[in-house]
Amino acid sequence: MGQELKLLLSACLVITSAVAGAEYVRPPPRRTLDFPWSPRRPSSPQQVHVSLAGKKHMRISWVTDDKSAPSHVTYGKSPGRHDFAVEGLSTSYSYLLYKSGKIHHVVIGPLEYDMVYFYKCGGEDPEFQLKTPPAELPVTFSIAGDLGQTGWTKSTLDHINKCDYDVHLLPGDLAYADYMQHWWDTFGNLVQPLASARPWMVTEGNHEQEFIPLVMDGFVSYNARWKMPYKESGSSSNLYYSFEVAGVHVVMLGSYTDFDMYSNQYRWLMKDLSKVNRQKTPWLVASFHVPWYNSNFAHQREGEEMMATLEPLLYAAGVDIVLAGHVHAYERAKRVYNGKLDPCGPVHITIGDGGNREGLAHRYHDPQPEWSAFREASFGHGELEFVNSSHAFWSWHRNDDDEPMRSDHAWISSLGSSGCLAGKRRELWKVLVAPRST
Ligand SMILES: *[C@@H]1O[C@H](CO)[C@@H](O)[C@H](O)[C@H]1NC(C)=O
Ligand SMILES: [Fe+2]
Repeated sequence: MGQELKLLLSACLVITSAVAGAEYVRPPPRRTLDFPWSPRRPSSPQQVHVSLAGKKHMRISWVTDDKSAPSHVTYGKSPGRHDFAVEGLSTSYSYLLYKSGKIHHVVIGPLEYDMVYFYKCGGEDPEFQLKTPPAELPVTFSIAGDLGQTGWTKSTLDHINKCDYDVHLLPGDLAYADYMQHWWDTFGNLVQPLASARPWMVTEGNHEQEFIPLVMDGFVSYNARWKMPYKESGSSSNLYYSFEVAGVHVVMLGSYTDFDMYSNQYRWLMKDLSKVNRQKTPWLVASFHVPWYNSNFAHQREGEEMMATLEPLLYAAGVDIVLAGHVHAYERAKRVYNGKLDPCGPVHITIGDGGNREGLAHRYHDPQPEWSAFREASFGHGELEFVNSSHAFWSWHRNDDDEPMRSDHAWISSLGSSGCLAGKRRELWKVLVAPRST
């Protein structure tokens, strides 16, 4: 390297570190997409999406303008031949002057594993198709949080559409409707091609809150539209739940609801984690919106309170991987616990790079913390393949590159195969019981 270049680089470094003391500033906003969407008939299904709903069952959700459209789904294993019909439920909500369409939720099943089903909503065209996840490993997740509905989002969705995955996981911040209710509808239509074909498992972010003191409860739109299997997993709130797919147990937690030791979420989580059978589900994954390990300027230490309460519990339970969003960038941490490298802690990944209108979070704290393995502010998505009971393959795919290109990747070996779990059982017991007996 030439001397001048070195000088130039160090000058740049001085400038960036001088700037680094300042507050995080978001890049300029990006325009939201236009959607010239018009359903053919008022009873035509819109915003169709599917989610896992307990063993061998899936929930089909859609919206109609027609308030008398029936909540029923017909389905079968070949196109046009629907041997099964199921009746479900519907809901709707008002938000200030906005009135939602009729929101239908129908649970279908029992379904065969790893099978394509053809289905229609309310007897109306078009016929959709979905694929159920496999019964056993391997199983692949695609992951992207903080989606929004911009050209960047479209690019992320196009990339996800090119990969071969079984379940999409979204760690919060879906539509960026931010009180403008019709943006929930346009978001539903934007994601329909993907979300009607594979289960979308979501948890809430700050943009789902839409709380107006004394006037509107939080999460009204989110809960009505994105109903997750909370009842199926013994939870009393749509804001946290769990599901199992192939050999993976996933807890979807709520960063924006109570998580203290005496909260319903904490109690439910203890119960859920103590039921996990690592013979049946060797992999244990947790997902929530606000990251605990984040070296970006954006949302620095926002997750501290939740981390203080829940990190020991997740650690004791032997969670393998934690997936978060919120920070609009990508960061992969090594196995870590209590701020330090720990071979028995989870791998933390921030994947809030779905492409919403707020743009990227470019600025990082230097030096890069010891636990941080890779960080970059680019839009993209993650793919997580659980290959077998001991090995999983993680890759990150930047939107700027062709989908098959892996911009970052890592093999992750399970805690079960590392011997970390044996001593942990006793520790978990202590964590679970100690706070109760004091
Ligand atoms: C699991 O997959 C990894 C990676 O492909 C392989 O090296 C390992 O032998 C496999 N283990 C078993 C038990 O099949
Ligand atoms: Fe967020």
